[in-house]
Amino acid sequence: MKLGGDNRGGIALSHNLPHMIGSSAAFRNVLRQVGLVAPTEETVLIEGETGTGKEVIAGAIHGLSPRSGRPLLKLNCAAIPSGLLESELFGHERGAFTGALTQRIGRFESADQGTLFLDEIGDIPLDLQPKLLRVLQEQEFERLGSNRTLQCNVRIVAATNRNLSRMVAEGKFRADLYYRLSIFPIHLPPLRHRRDDVPALIRHFVEAYAQRMNKQIDVIPQATIDAIQRHDWPGNIRQLQNFIARAVILTSGAVLEAPLSELQRVEDNVASEPTTLEEAERSHILRILSETNGRLAPAAKILGMPRTTLFYKVRRLGIDLTRTEVGQWRGASALPVDRPVSVMA
Ligand SMILES: Nc1ncnc2c1ncn2[C@@H]1O[C@H](COP(=O)(O)OP(=O)(O)OP(=O)(O)O)[C@@H](O)[C@H]1O
Ligand SMILES: [Mg+2]
Repeated sequence: MKLGGDNRGGIALSHNLPHMIGSSAAFRNVLRQVGLVAPTEETVLIEGETGTGKEVIAGAIHGLSPRSGRPLLKLNCAAIPSGLLESELFGHERGAFTGALTQRIGRFESADQGTLFLDEIGDIPLDLQPKLLRVLQEQEFERLGSNRTLQCNVRIVAATNRNLSRMVAEGKFRADLYYRLSIFPIHLPPLRHRRDDVPALIRHFVEAYAQRMNKQIDVIPQATIDAIQRHDWPGNIRQLQNFIARAVILTSGAVLEAPLSELQRVEDNVASEPTTLEEAERSHILRILSETNGRLAPAAKILGMPRTTLFYKVRRLGIDLTRTEVGQWRGASALPVDRPVSVMA
């Protein structure tokens, strides 16, 4: 399976991948990273707010990998009581603990030769983290209640909407596991940082829900698109998707009737106050870049960091250097963020 694309970042995804909408530079940059890492055996850490598409991207990484013919198993670490997580991951022998009436195969064994998607990895208890690190590094583990060491060949894709580096600083996540997991981090930008993708997403969801509900909707009013595009969507694509589902239910004719009063209008230039350190960092970098017309070298000087570090941050934060939210240096001859990246921090 192949991920093709031209030098300007056009991406053609294989037909049997989940349908992914998005042509903003920030999203193309994500797809480019997916295309780079998917064929390797490396662990991938997908970070992003809730509803940004982390699971969809995990599916794409597996689908574009040489393991695509093998299973992609998913385990939501937040959904399993912490006492049961170890047995869920590594399995157990009969009698290993009270209630272990039969032997059980864990996910690492079931996913052998395939991919294991560890969702909400930030919720994995501290005492279990060394065991996970061991299986990542040595590809070996024991079932609970057994001394026999088992080998496995599993590729790990992990996802989180928590700030793992902050959790490391707070002693809530082991640094060694964090560094092992974040060999290749992919940051999914929130929808409010890629508003360009909103119209296509609206069309996609209107078509999908109209078909499912057997309705014929031919027109999406421009004012509806504008209002939706201005909104901040804290629940990201999932929230937008549910909003459109509601709109399609409410529509009786050929024109989409979206419940726009639900949306709080957000003025173009008044981005919501940053709430996390990462958002504050992003908005500060954007402000400085707008002062330098998108040029990295002078911006790096003002920010007091090497240009390569700024480039890495820009890429990681999904900042679109050719067309940003601030929009002040549109068309400036800045380095496009979706070029193949040769600089890693
Ligand atoms: N690029 C995309 N194009 C179309 N639909 C998308 C895209 N990304 C995500 N979606 C849809 O948005 C919804 C949320 O995606 P997903 O479950 O992958 O998000 P998530 O980041 O894993 O969320 P959470 O953190 O809450 O688990 C899904 O219904 C998914 O199909
Ligand atoms: Mg998810």
